[in-house]
Amino acid sequence: MDSAERPDPGRRPPLPPPGRTLPFISKLKLFYLLSILVLLLAISFSVSKTDHFKKLFLRLTLSPYPSFLKKLLNLLHPFTVINSQKQTSRNPIYTAPYCVLWMAPFLSGGGYSSEAWSYILALHDYSMRKNSSFRLKIEQHGDLENLEFWEGLPLEMRNLAIQLHQTQCRLNETVVVCHSEPGAWYPPLFETLPCPPIGYGHFRAVVGRTMFETDRVNDEHVKRCNLLDFIWVPTDFHVKTFTESGVDPLKTLKIVQPVDLEFFDPLKYEQLDFGSIGNLVMGSPSHGSNLGKQFVFLSIFKWEYRKGWDVLLQSYLKEFSGAEDVALYLLTNPYHSDRDFGNKIVEYVENSDLEEPKDGWAPVYVIDEHIAQVDMPRLYKAANAFVLPSRGEGWGRPVVEAMAMTLPVIATNWSGPTEFMTEDNSYPLPVDSMSEVTEGPFKGHLWAEPSVNKLQMLMRHVMRNHEEAKARGKQARDDMMSSFSPEVVAGIVNDHIERIIDHTQ
Ligand SMILES: *[C@@H]1O[C@H](CO)[C@@H](O)[C@H](O)[C@H]1NC(C)=O
Ligand SMILES: *[C@@H]1O[C@H](CO)[C@@H](O)[C@H](O)[C@H]1NC(C)=O
Ligand SMILES: *[C@@H]1O[C@H](CO)[C@@H](O)[C@H](O)[C@H]1NC(C)=O
Repeated sequence: MDSAERPDPGRRPPLPPPGRTLPFISKLKLFYLLSILVLLLAISFSVSKTDHFKKLFLRLTLSPYPSFLKKLLNLLHPFTVINSQKQTSRNPIYTAPYCVLWMAPFLSGGGYSSEAWSYILALHDYSMRKNSSFRLKIEQHGDLENLEFWEGLPLEMRNLAIQLHQTQCRLNETVVVCHSEPGAWYPPLFETLPCPPIGYGHFRAVVGRTMFETDRVNDEHVKRCNLLDFIWVPTDFHVKTFTESGVDPLKTLKIVQPVDLEFFDPLKYEQLDFGSIGNLVMGSPSHGSNLGKQFVFLSIFKWEYRKGWDVLLQSYLKEFSGAEDVALYLLTNPYHSDRDFGNKIVEYVENSDLEEPKDGWAPVYVIDEHIAQVDMPRLYKAANAFVLPSRGEGWGRPVVEAMAMTLPVIATNWSGPTEFMTEDNSYPLPVDSMSEVTEGPFKGHLWAEPSVNKLQMLMRHVMRNHEEAKARGKQARDDMMSSFSPEVVAGIVNDHIERIIDHTQ
């Protein structure tokens, strides 16, 4: 799944009551034993100041290990086994009998991580307002822990994570959600806590949440999807690609992704000062750069070919020149590459057939420094339009965030974003043709080639017709409100989980 996505820290879950840990029953594994041994060693050698130790501690915080320790303790004291009566009285928030165990890379900070957080926060809020028939439990799964990411989360989110990790569940009363790429599902193809933890057949139901960015799903992934009871995909596009590839249509269900409209609310923020961030990599500072006059296009993406940065540069550099009050800002971060984006851009332009206009290149800026999540709304607010000519998206989180921030958006009219882009709320970018993926795990699949020409025209159009563009941006936020707010999406998830609980006796 995609992009420079981070969880929304805008929500403020209440501080948890003191929790209590009882085991989520998981298979005793040599691997865990070894980890604990390492931890004990680490403690005994008192290396407690090192990142290594902190990482281990982090694992213990939000992974099966504490449960495992407790399990050991419980083996020694068999009378402290799960007692749901006691448990509910100690955790006043969740009194429902059933459990949803949400397993996702909560600690990785990647795309699945931020998506999983958005569901957890939405469901948690929902459960505070309505009587849901299940409690939430979370487990780290599917990706590596990122200490920096965890430490950067608001305290409330970290507390909520620890609290939800400690929820106690019975296997037969638990619906497991495996929120990760299917390779991490039981039996996992790489080292991770498997999901479901002890294989199939022990839980009330097992749901997979996943998505891809190409026109199909490979055979191994289809097989893995069909082992589960349900597959939740984010868009109609995925319902189509999954079922056409052989995933059981009766199991395949669309569950859209929420966007935090309270956090991404343009009325709450002043714009970030572009003068203070970004390195000029093409052109010279726009002569109208007496701030506020310049028309700023913003794009946000991981540095990979799929994101269509080449298409964006072609269109922008062909359409505009140094004589115009325009600028393109790229917020990007590495994806299996170094951070030298400026040189990559210059090199790409030199090797292309682009010709420098007589007034010089229109300016291109790269923002490769870390922009704190709390500053993201201010960054969107500082732009006049958002543009992402991607070849394929699972969902397109930055697109949705920009729409929540009322920016006019130009993005490829294919894959994930077709779920929320219309000609009333944005500028869907037409596709020229489909092209073959030439490298990586999806080699041989197809994705879209967005039109360079049409992108030129749309960028020019949005700049010339700014009032129309603003109106579409406003419509975009309205549409986000009615279809993708945390309340709406939590309701959808809640209803489906209740149906699963009711129908799997
Ligand atoms: C939740 O359940 C309690 C007790 O069963 C009931 O009094 C209350 O009205 C319910 N609240 C909602 C929002 O359904
Ligand atoms: C789950 O198992 C426990 C203990 O075996 C039993 O008491 C409980 O009723 C079961 N729950 C359901 C929903 O079948
Ligand atoms: C976007 O794609 C859909 C089909 O997927 C098509 O019906 C629609 O006309 C396209 N919109 C634009 C602006 O190209």
